[in-house]
Amino acid sequence: MTSFVPLSADTSPVPSGPARVDIDLEAIAHNTEILLRAAGGAELMGVVKADAYGHGAPAVGRAVLDAGGSALGVTTLAEALELRQAGISAPVLAWLYSAGDDVSGALQAGIDLAIPSPLHLDAVLAGVRRSGLRAKVTPKLDTGLGRSGVLPAQWPEFLDRLVAAQRDGLIEVSGLMAHFANADSPGDPIIDTQVERLHEAVAEARAAGLECAVNHHSNAARTLTEGADGFEMVRPGIALYGLSPIEGEDFGLRPAMTFSAEILMVKDVPAGQGISYGHTWVAPRDTVVALVAAGYADGVWRLLSNKFSVEIGGRRYPQVGRVCMDQFMVDLGPRQPDGSVTGGVAAGDRAVMFGDPRRGAPHAGEWAETLGTIHYEVVCAARGRAARYVHSGRAPHPIGTGTGTGAGAATEDATGTDTATGGEG
Ligand SMILES: Cc1ncc(COP(=O)(O)O)c(C=O)c1O
Repeated sequence: MTSFVPLSADTSPVPSGPARVDIDLEAIAHNTEILLRAAGGAELMGVVKADAYGHGAPAVGRAVLDAGGSALGVTTLAEALELRQAGISAPVLAWLYSAGDDVSGALQAGIDLAIPSPLHLDAVLAGVRRSGLRAKVTPKLDTGLGRSGVLPAQWPEFLDRLVAAQRDGLIEVSGLMAHFANADSPGDPIIDTQVERLHEAVAEARAAGLECAVNHHSNAARTLTEGADGFEMVRPGIALYGLSPIEGEDFGLRPAMTFSAEILMVKDVPAGQGISYGHTWVAPRDTVVALVAAGYADGVWRLLSNKFSVEIGGRRYPQVGRVCMDQFMVDLGPRQPDGSVTGGVAAGDRAVMFGDPRRGAPHAGEWAETLGTIHYEVVCAARGRAARYVHSGRAPHPIGTGTGTGAGAATEDATGTDTATGGEG
């Protein structure tokens, strides 16, 4: 995952790569508010794992907290510590780590730990003994997802161990959590079964003397359809980023990420000219093509070759020929009768691969559909040389590097909210 590079006075200015990811923190705030309304009074833990689904965990985490979120949730201990290192002091929960990990560093940093198996309880207790610190824990139950979590058959003995550990002053149980298998298919009976199982477990834990003040099951799909299901907190991810968790449903969310790249050259090609490796597209007429500076090394799948379009200056143009490692081509169409290039496209303009459709950009879901995947994977894909810029109406936030290799620039957007993608911010 991306390492967080705080901006400091002595950070040498690194020129941004021509491929970039722009993150609109006001969209994150707007989406958080929608989720909070749907949560109906329950608290909100913003899921910022995987570098906030590729959006930049510290900046997104702050935006979620500023907009009314109470806590942040991540997968690994390293992700949790990254938030602390970025100066975030709000509660942070990490829910998947190795049972062989030494968790004492996380305890020292005040990270709440999920306990997804009996072996993980061993790891937490070992960390408590090593650090001398009491752990705040959220046991994770497998209410039906069939992934991580304590199974119903393991629960009675596990609960006994939790009660004993609390009695010995080793842990404090904040609450219980579980994750849905199919919340994006409202009406699937497994959803209610999972909710009932968590309610039963909370009741049993409370009867055994554990306070379990804050319990949570709802991801984004469940939060937006049914709220918190009577629990005290919701735990949404994808909707924070403005992507609907339920296909075809519009909850008024605003996509926060715009992925774009600079046009490095525009040139005339004659009819019959093959374009890019393998000549998988041959100009059917004299036309003008643009070379866009992003390729599969930056997160534009080669599988998308000849199958997507970009937005340039408010118009859509088809991508043509193979997507290469560093670049792809776009067909701008024949010159206009007055000799000008359609839309006046020129080197230095930006081509938007995906962003906010209300601003004319393709939606990340279009790539997902073409690739046979989900938009979660699409927004996590921008990487390599793609520098990330964070936009906010407030004071600029420090930002991380391009996702993945960390090769992108660690810098701040000098233009504040204004970008060639339509001025989002
Ligand atoms: C444990 C857990 N909780 C919450 C979420 C958030 O899910 P979503 O992004 O669908 O809202 C995830 C994401 O996979 C998760 O793993």
